[in-house]
Amino acid sequence: MTSSDIIAMTGKYQMGNYTRHPVVFVRGEGTRLFDADGREYLDFLGGIAVALLGHAHPGVSQAVSLQVKNLVHVSNLFHVPVQAELGRLVSQSTTGGKVFFCNSGTEANEAAIKLARKWSVDRGRERAHEIVVAEGSFHGRTYGGLSATAQPKLHKGFEPLLPGFRTVPFGDAEALDAALTDGTCAFLIEPIQGESGVRMPPPGYLAEAERLCRARGILLMADEIQTGLGRTGSFLASERFGVTPDVVTLAKGMANGLPLGAVVAAEEVAASLGPGTHGSTFGGNPVCCAAARVVFEALRSPGFLDGVRLKGDLFAEGLREVAGRRQDIREVRGMGLMLAIEMDGETREIADRCLARGLVVNSTAGNVLRFLPPLTVSEGEIQQCLLILEESLPQGGRK
Ligand SMILES: Cc1ncc(COP(=O)(O)O)c(C=O)c1O
Repeated sequence: MTSSDIIAMTGKYQMGNYTRHPVVFVRGEGTRLFDADGREYLDFLGGIAVALLGHAHPGVSQAVSLQVKNLVHVSNLFHVPVQAELGRLVSQSTTGGKVFFCNSGTEANEAAIKLARKWSVDRGRERAHEIVVAEGSFHGRTYGGLSATAQPKLHKGFEPLLPGFRTVPFGDAEALDAALTDGTCAFLIEPIQGESGVRMPPPGYLAEAERLCRARGILLMADEIQTGLGRTGSFLASERFGVTPDVVTLAKGMANGLPLGAVVAAEEVAASLGPGTHGSTFGGNPVCCAAARVVFEALRSPGFLDGVRLKGDLFAEGLREVAGRRQDIREVRGMGLMLAIEMDGETREIADRCLARGLVVNSTAGNVLRFLPPLTVSEGEIQQCLLILEESLPQGGRK
C-alpha cells in the first residue's frame, strides 16, 4: 500500500474529527520518525508531549514485551506487582499522596472532579460542588473534562454540559479570590496552559491561588497532564512554582505512549474514593505500568531533570536568537522542554513548511508554534530544529 492508499483508507473508514497531516509514519527511534517512504523527521511534538524517553526506547520496549509474555490483564479486582510498584513510584515522585490509575488525561480529570465533589459531600458540604477553572483551559473531551475546559468553541454543539463549573480569567488572583465561595469545592488549574499556546502564569499567581484555596478549605487541583513528568525540568511544574497541590492529574507521557493516566491526591482527600465509588477496567493495566516504571526510573535517575532544564534553557535561548532576527515573533515563552513562539499571524502554514523540511512541530491557538520534544532530545537535535525552523519562517518577517 502506498502512503496515499493509507491516507485514503483512513478517510474512508474513520470519523473526520481529526485534522491530520498527509504523512504516514511507520517507525520511530529516539527523536526521529520515519515515514512510509523512508523519509526521516525530527520530532519536536513527541506525540503531543507523550514520547518522554523518545520513540522505541529500548528499556520500554523490553519491559513491555516481558510483561506481555507474562500477564496482560487481570482487572483491578486483584493485585499485580508492577502496578503496586508504580503506585509507590508515582506517589513518592510527586506529592506523596495516594494514586488512582486510569487510561488517559480526560479520565484523570474526570476522576479528580468526582473526587472533589465526593470529598466535599464527605465533609458535610453537599452544596459546595462548584469547581473553578481558568479561561483558555484544556482538561479533556469527555463531559466532565469538556465542562471544565473553559473554551466555548469546544462546547459548541455539545450542550448541555455538566453543571457546576465557574470560569475565571487565567492569571487573575483577584478574580479567583472573588470566585471562590461557600459553593466551591476545588480550583482546577493547568500550571502552564498547554493547548492554549503555552500560556505562562504571572509571577506569584499559583502561590496566591494556593493561599486562597488553603484559607477557605478548597482543593487546589493541578492538571499536570502536559506540564508534569519532567516536562518543565522538575517532576511537576507545580514544584517550579513553589506550590503543592492537593490533587494532581497525570497522563500523556506516563507510559511513553501506552495509555495510562493517574490522579494523585493527599491521603485525607483520597479517602473519599472508597470501595465502589469509582473504577476502570483497564486503569493501571500491567503492560502500561511496566512501561511507566521505566519512565519513572529514567526521570528519577541522577541528572535527568537537570538535563531537561539545561536543554530547555539552550533551546529557549536559540529561539530568542531567532526572534531577534525577526519582526513577526511576538514572544518566546515556556519552561523546560515545553516552549513556544507566538507570531503575528497564523502558524499552521509554518508548521506545514517545517514538516516538508523534516521537522514535526505543532501549530496551536492559531498564532503559536509549540515545541514538546522527547526529554531525551540532544543539543545537536535542538540546533537542527532551530535551523529548519528559521528556514521555514515567512521570508517577509525578517528584520
Ligand atoms: C492539560 C491537559 N489536560 C487534559 C488533556 C486531555 O488528555 P487526553 O487527550 O489524554 O484525554 C490534555 C491533552 O492535551 C491536556 O493537555
